[in-house]
Amino acid sequence: MKKTKIYLAFVLAVIFAGCSSDDNSAAAEKPVVINFEVSVSAGNGLRVIADNKSTGASGFEAYWQFTEGGEKVLDGPGPEYYLYDGPGEYQVTLTIEAPAKTYTDTKNITIDGEAGPDPQAKKALKEAATTFSVGMIVQANRLGGKHDEVISKDFNSITSEYEMKMNIMYPSEGNYNFDAADAIVDFAVSRGMDVHGHALIWHNATPSWVENFSGTDAEFEAMVEDYITTTVTRYKGKVRSWDVVNEAIEDGSNNLRNSVFKQKMGDDFIAKCFQFAKNADPDVLLFYNDYNLTFDSGKQNAMFAIVDDLKSQGLIDGVGAQMHISYNGPSSTQIQSVVDGTVSRDLLMHFSELDIRANPDNDLTTALTDSRAIEQQAKYKEVVEIYNAIPQDSKFALTVWGLRDNESWLLDFWGNPDWPLLYDSAFNTKKAHDGFLEGLE
Ligand code: XIL
Repeated sequence: MKKTKIYLAFVLAVIFAGCSSDDNSAAAEKPVVINFEVSVSAGNGLRVIADNKSTGASGFEAYWQFTEGGEKVLDGPGPEYYLYDGPGEYQVTLTIEAPAKTYTDTKNITIDGEAGPDPQAKKALKEAATTFSVGMIVQANRLGGKHDEVISKDFNSITSEYEMKMNIMYPSEGNYNFDAADAIVDFAVSRGMDVHGHALIWHNATPSWVENFSGTDAEFEAMVEDYITTTVTRYKGKVRSWDVVNEAIEDGSNNLRNSVFKQKMGDDFIAKCFQFAKNADPDVLLFYNDYNLTFDSGKQNAMFAIVDDLKSQGLIDGVGAQMHISYNGPSSTQIQSVVDGTVSRDLLMHFSELDIRANPDNDLTTALTDSRAIEQQAKYKEVVEIYNAIPQDSKFALTVWGLRDNESWLLDFWGNPDWPLLYDSAFNTKKAHDGFLEGLE
């Protein structure tokens, strides 16, 4: 028993001695060459970026001192950043503590505190998109402050999220209310932005007095003509384009939705509404707008039948494909199909209501994961790439349906958490925003 213990102690001593002599010979074979680079950040003239470029030092402790004899800052992976209190001449020292020897290197740096343009700063979407307008929705009560700052930077086209719909602009018979619409149009015009008017006729924003209209069909049609004429005339020269009719096709059957407009004005109510708009402003661009036009080929065909009829009468300028989509579908081929149909008809293509659900299957419960954010980024890139490749004559605008994730209509609509937009709730750009820019490269 005693013999075994002695033997074991001897073996361990040999192993231990072996290890330490190996370490010493490794250090002797691979000498440390200390070296670093230090530069002032272009975005902040008080910040330095220090990058350890030493060789043979891996595994040894290294630390920085950004002032002479100053506080020691451990060297982590990647460059270190240090913020000075004020301008001056400073000494930056890197120290590496190898077992046999301590190495140091010192460099002087001048800090003048003047920040240049930040090379990391992202380009504004509207500047990166040189061949089409980049649109954003607004609400009249969110026109100032940070919304204004962010929207003015990235976007050059404005759409009203809900206040340029009939239930808001024409709430009761004979009484128009253009307060919110005026505020939105003035906001955009004073900033030199385009305004896309949305939407004159939509079954989902029809005021109840219109749904329950008490007069004759002829009186109904005269009322609709007055509404369209009054509205389009009011914004003549300020609104560049209107969605005249929104979502007229019924899901499933692909027939015309049996709206009060169809019931009282007939199957050609769409052409009548386009004609009223055109009479009021012959120069304004007129769009038919609908959803699920990518993957639902039956609906797409029904839409193009309506559009062809309008085109044969010289009444339509473009197609709005809403683009409420998800990170995992529709496919690029499906998206391309509605583009091709629009371009081949010589019409303008509007990707009118882009948002990309990150959580369509409700498998994320609390937060947008990094991996899903990357997938969403890729989808934004794909959509923008497809849009950007459209022949110039058919390019018009790509409108994003909401600024911050927490403001998206989808949260109420689907009732589950989602993060479908370009900005998070703190107004920070997301990976999705990078994806948008990548689609323009
Ligand atoms: C939505 C708005 O985002 C909501 O704020 C409003 O309550 C309802 O309408 N298709 C359209 C848009 O054409 O007008 C809808 O906007 C979203 C679906």
